[in-house]
Amino acid sequence: MRVTLFGASGLLGQELVHELTRDASADQLTALSVEDADLRDHARIRGVIRDSRPDWILLSAAYTDVDGCESNRDLAFAVNCEGAANAARAAREAKSRLLFLSTDYVFDGTKRSPYETGDARNPASVYGESKARAEEQLLEILPDLCIARTSWLFGHGGKCFPATILKLASTRPEISVVNDQRGSPTFTPDLASALVQLCRAEARGIVHVTNSGNCTWYEFAREIMQMSGLPTTINPVTTAEFPRPARRPAYSVLSPDSLHAYNIHMPEWQDALRRYLQAA
Ligand SMILES: NC(=O)c1ccc[n+]([C@@H]2O[C@H](COP(=O)([O-])OP(=O)(O)OC[C@H]3O[C@@H](n4cnc5c(N)ncnc54)[C@H](OP(=O)(O)O)[C@@H]3O)[C@@H](O)[C@H]2O)c1
Repeated sequence: MRVTLFGASGLLGQELVHELTRDASADQLTALSVEDADLRDHARIRGVIRDSRPDWILLSAAYTDVDGCESNRDLAFAVNCEGAANAARAAREAKSRLLFLSTDYVFDGTKRSPYETGDARNPASVYGESKARAEEQLLEILPDLCIARTSWLFGHGGKCFPATILKLASTRPEISVVNDQRGSPTFTPDLASALVQLCRAEARGIVHVTNSGNCTWYEFAREIMQMSGLPTTINPVTTAEFPRPARRPAYSVLSPDSLHAYNIHMPEWQDALRRYLQAA
């Protein structure tokens, strides 16, 4: 497979590079950071895709600061929506397939059973809005693209929830964590492996890709403490007690049915957390 990856320096991007280069397979990877190609620069995006002639474009690059997006709406849409559309137009020209990374934050979180791929988008934040609009626009430009929605990423080589909790736990006897937002933590090596399998399976349409099972952030933090044997007490609090600029969905568990249709099954998030901590 010939692959061009945007966002290679990000949390997921680093694992995609690892996944696509770890054996001496015939895969050919062009891994691009923002310095190589800014998604907002249409001419540059066209140029790199024309030159690399990929079978698949993996679009992991995004402006992912969820709270920052609230005060930088123009930047959020310029990168996450218009930038993604630039890549989709270039993909259409080069006859490349495109896999776009999207998010559980396209949903409002009012459901109490797992979100299916066809459920209505109704984002509660600017970040979610920029991704939801991108999904709609990309499906118009490139109807056969694959949209992989994922959630609550954690992994090595960047900021993530377990790393933050472990850092806080090293200096504090107690930490307060919200207990009224439920989702599925997703380990970047597991996600990268599933995404590459989707490409090999010529996937199209919307696919939900998260680790199995779900929890609240409080339950996630407690599991981190238990597995790492640290004595810090985790206290449950409400989102209202911990106001943030961006609204987050109260419930954003994604149904795995669309992934199972490709016969891809993800490990439980606790199993993934154990592997993360072993390598931390
Ligand atoms: N993190 C999560 O919990 C989560 C959940 C659901 C979905 N997602 C989606 O999954 C994907 C990967 O997330 P992640 O956590 O790996 O993100 P990340 O660590 O923030 O990485 C994003 C990457 O995009 C690059 N980038 C930013 N602006 C760019 C631009 N204008 N042009 C080109 N590249 C640009 C960044 O480069 P610099 O680092 O140099 O700025 C970085 O390499 C994203 O599409 C995100 O929306 C993430």
